[in-house]
Formats: sequence, C-alpha cells, structure tokens
Amino acid sequence: MRGSRILGTAFARPNLTALTSSSPSSSQISRRIRSAASSLPRATQKHVRSAPFSTSAGKTGSLSRSNDRESRQYSTKNPQAEAPPFAFAFDIDGVLLHVATPIPGAPEALKFLNENNIPFILLTNGGGKHETERVKDLSQKLGIELTTDNFVQSHTPFRQLVGGPDSLREKTILVTGANAEKCRLIAEAYGFRNVVTPADIIKAHPEVFPFDPLLDTVYTATARPLPKPVFTPGSGMNLKDALKIDAMFVFNDPRDWAYDIQLITDLLLSQEGYVGTYSPKNGDAALPGCGWQQDGQPQLYFSNADLLWSTGFHLPRFGQGAFQAAVAGVWRRLTNGHELQRRVIGKPYSETYQFAERVLATHRHDVLKSRGHHEPGTLKSVYMVGDNPESDIAGANDYQSEAGTEWSSVLVRTGVWSPEHSGEKAIQGRFKPKVIVDDAREAVRWALKREGWTGPSL
Ligand code: G3P
Ligand code: MG
Repeated sequence: MRGSRILGTAFARPNLTALTSSSPSSSQISRRIRSAASSLPRATQKHVRSAPFSTSAGKTGSLSRSNDRESRQYSTKNPQAEAPPFAFAFDIDGVLLHVATPIPGAPEALKFLNENNIPFILLTNGGGKHETERVKDLSQKLGIELTTDNFVQSHTPFRQLVGGPDSLREKTILVTGANAEKCRLIAEAYGFRNVVTPADIIKAHPEVFPFDPLLDTVYTATARPLPKPVFTPGSGMNLKDALKIDAMFVFNDPRDWAYDIQLITDLLLSQEGYVGTYSPKNGDAALPGCGWQQDGQPQLYFSNADLLWSTGFHLPRFGQGAFQAAVAGVWRRLTNGHELQRRVIGKPYSETYQFAERVLATHRHDVLKSRGHHEPGTLKSVYMVGDNPESDIAGANDYQSEAGTEWSSVLVRTGVWSPEHSGEKAIQGRFKPKVIVDDAREAVRWALKREGWTGPSL
C-alpha cells in the first residue's frame, strides 16, 4: 500500500484492474470500447473507431526531438507549414478555476491556444453534471468556447460500460454522488436503462437507515418508485422478484456519507446484490478471501480517487477519495481487515489517460483539418498541466501511450500542492513533475518555448 504524500496520512491505493471483471487485454479493451462507441459524442465516437496512432517512423522519433525542436518551423495558421505536434491537457480545479472563480492567467492561456489553434482538452476528476451542461458552464466562467469534443470528466469513461460484452444497459445500477438525482439523469443520458438512487430505497423502506436522513427533503423530492420491492424475510417473497442491484457507481463526492456507506456496505454483504439479504458466504474462512465479496455482489465503481482538491479555501478540501477511504475503512472494520475490492477510474489511472489521449488526438485532428492542415501528422507530445501530484502528475508520469505520445507533467502553484504546505516530500518519485510553474499561463509559455514555437507570444 502507498501512503498519501500530500499530508503524509496513509491512504491505501487499491490494486485496480481495468473496468471489467477480469483484466482484459488491450485489444479486448479497444474492442469493448468500440462496441460501446455508439452512445459517445461524435469526436469521441471517431476517436474510438480510429486505429491507435503510430508515431511516424523515421520522423525524429517521439522523445528525442529536443535537439530539433528549435529548428522546426510549424504553424497552425498556414496550412502549408507543418502542424504543431504538441497539445495540452488541462486539469480544472486548482489550475483553471477555484470552484467558480477563474484563476488569473488561465482564461488568457486558453484563449491564446484557441486563437492559435493549438489543441487542448480539459481533463478533470470533477463530475456531477452531464458533459454538455458542464462545458456550457465552464465556457461561461472561463469566457472561451469549449465543446464536449475536448472535455473529459471523471465519470465520462463510465459510458463504455453501457455497451459491449459486459453491457450494463439493461441491468439495474445504483448511483450516488453530491446530487444523486443528477447522477441518475447523467447515467440515463449515457444509456443506462435501470438506474436507482439511495432516495428510491430509503423512501420505500425508511427502516434501512434508522436515523433522520440528512437529505430527507431531497430524498422525498427525487425518489422514484422502485422497479422491484426490497426483499423482506418471512414475507414469502421469492428472491427473484426482489430488487437486485448489479453495479454501484459513485459519480462524484457524496453528501450523505452515513446513509450511502450503509447502503453500499449492505449491498457488498448481500446475496448476489439483492437488497435486504445477507450472503451466507460472508466470513467463511474456508472460502477465498473468507467469502467476502464472493457471492456475486455488485461491482463498486469510484470515478475519482482524489483525497484532496483545491477550492477557494486556503487549505485543500476532502474529495471523493476521502469518501472511498471511509467506505474501505468501514469494510476493513466489518471484515476483520479485508481489503475492499473496487474499481476506480479518473486520474492517475491509465484507463482515463488512454481515454483522454484518444479524445485529444481526434479533437486535434479535427481542429487542424478544419484549419486546412491535410496532414495533421501525429500527436507527439502532450503537456498535462495540473495542481495535484497524486492525480495529474503521477498519472501523466506513469502513462505509457499506446501511440508513443510523450506526456509531460507540469505542476502549478495555484492548487492542492504548494511549497509551504506539502513541500518537496510530496513531489518525489512518480509524483515529481517535469517542471513547476506559477500558473496555467506560465505552463503554456514553458511548453511553447520547449517546443520551439515561433508564433505569437502569450
Ligand atoms: O472533485 C474534483 C476534484 O477531485 C479535482 O478536480 O479538476 O482538479 O481534477 P480536478
Ligand atoms: Mg486539480
């Protein structure tokens, strides 16, 4: 287990497998991604379909370009000139915004890139709104035009679980988050057909939570009738007629931790996901893992592992990773120390970077093509500009691009990490950025210089 370095508190990093039950090969992942493509935005569909990018052999090789960067004359405005082989991925919280307030220099940097047709995406561990709504909101706050073609948030890759061999389209899933009703609407927009929220269950069966629910008014206002009743022992009810949850998703930071942890844990202890049941395998020492999570219980998905994130407050605040730690802590206590089996995506995990790279490569292709570059060439380097060593920096450093694209991690001083607060100890090893700069604008300036950019200056 690796401890969190920002505040030195131990935070277990779960050993994660890819997004499906058994860890699939990359060709299986691509096949599943392709088959799930239909519900994605056009740009994302296109990137799913197009074959992985291969570095153009013999063209200065992706990483050893430092010596010839200076000499390269490329332009985004003159289609005759070579298209720039680099692009950006910007984190949001702590880099572009503090919650709703733009961070000085950030809107200017994005505006400059847009004006000079230098492709970029926004890659955030945030979530809780549908991509279209969040993009509209961000465009307004940052004063620049953004589209869902260059935007990836924590739960965007969950779309891929709608289709494919392990399709959850017709299954019953439980979703929760800051506003579980909104998360339900997002999941339905992704294509999930049977989505239940904690409100639906507590309104139908208040006895599942013996305390006055914190969000009772919200639950009353948003609860829908359950697709099936909760199993009640002694009622003569047949199990197959009872409510069964096939997967659980945490879309963003829950608000009612107490009830959400009770419900999630109930399902992890259940028989095959039937709400209100208890698996006879639990704690059976004769079984692997003492029988915990060995009885077809629903998969538990988290979209973001951030323990801390940067808001307007002068100290970082707890994120979804703290909720995950609380669930895992209760589970360890319940099971005499067994590790909670769960799936987590978002930065720093490679699935999210792979997904983001494909979105960026397609968006870049479209931007440059639309500017007359018939041969946009390959995407050789991406600058990941982030404020969190644990997610943005470690993720970019660890990511092995299937297309051979070099990901460079750029740490800004406007967010979670700060020299005074977390200091050098938090940026060692895989958390060590390629460079530390003051803010997003300086990050772009540093990268343009490194790339030998000769166009207008920021
Ligand atoms: O909840 C959002 C937070 O974890 C961080 O978001 O944009 O910094 O990746 P971001
Ligand atoms: Mg951030």
